[in-house]
Amino acid sequence: SNKQFKVVITEAEPPYNDIKSIANVYQNPNPGTLPRDIFLKESKDADGILCLLRDKIDKEFLDNAKHLKVISTLSVGYDHIDLDECKKRGIKVGNTPDVLTAATAELAVSLTLAVSRRLIEAADAARNGEWKIWTPFWMTGNGIQNSIIGILGLGRIGGTVAKLLEPFAPENIIYHNRKPKNESKYEYVSFEDLLKKSDYLIVCVDVSTINGILFDYNAFKKMKKSATFVNISRGSIVNHDDLYKALSEGEIGAAGLDVTNPEPFPTNHPLFTLKNCVILPHIGSATISTREAMIKLSESNLINGLTGKPIVGPIQ
Ligand code: GLV
Ligand code: GLV
Repeated sequence: SNKQFKVVITEAEPPYNDIKSIANVYQNPNPGTLPRDIFLKESKDADGILCLLRDKIDKEFLDNAKHLKVISTLSVGYDHIDLDECKKRGIKVGNTPDVLTAATAELAVSLTLAVSRRLIEAADAARNGEWKIWTPFWMTGNGIQNSIIGILGLGRIGGTVAKLLEPFAPENIIYHNRKPKNESKYEYVSFEDLLKKSDYLIVCVDVSTINGILFDYNAFKKMKKSATFVNISRGSIVNHDDLYKALSEGEIGAAGLDVTNPEPFPTNHPLFTLKNCVILPHIGSATISTREAMIKLSESNLINGLTGKPIVGPIQ
């Protein structure tokens, strides 16, 4: 064929026809992760790859893929990609910011509200016949009104979460970033104060700016005993055994997780036994239109990267 590029696509489902019109494509023929050995073999002569969060793009992979010019990931996060190694090699990296901000913030708010009003537990109780008689404090939660919302990572998603929560009339919205934002109507606080003051601590941070675990037992112990911990960022910054310990000892009040470590989260983890912990299977960006937009952007990033046009991503 006269196609000048070779591309590897690790996900089976989207057809990516525009890529196929300009490149010889190896696309994972099966649902699920493309086995590492096949990924390495097919990438040996690839100019571009289109990958997912579950594909590890590390030094070993990059040493093997000597012709690689563009990596396009079907995600906003790129903590699965070694950016420093990509920079050294002049490889462009594209991701899918903006198109998923609204959906992901909406999910963060949904999860926060669900935990705050015990929606999952209450729906289970209705279904299981535990709904018997009205008593004043049965199934009562904390609600958002008059609470202090704390946001770790006031970026695109975190900022949208704050804006969406405002109409629920919290007393205050505070945040912590590496640096205070120049123009923000929300109150900047230290990480310590975020832990101490938040009634709802919502983690929206970009984990590529963070090394290691931020939320261990010690951190949870500094939070209010009534506090709710919500994570829509990455599970890697949380010690989930410590979270279980903190919840079961009453060091914090409740938790909502859209992300865990590992993913999928093992169903025998003790966190699943707690009624005050809601675990979702990483569905932050899961609206149909958002996923369609992400697929489109990941496709144009790959094509534009290969043909020397601007791309959206951390290394352009
Ligand atoms: C989801 O977590 C993403 O990074 O897109
Ligand atoms: C983080 O990645 C964001 O888009 O806020």
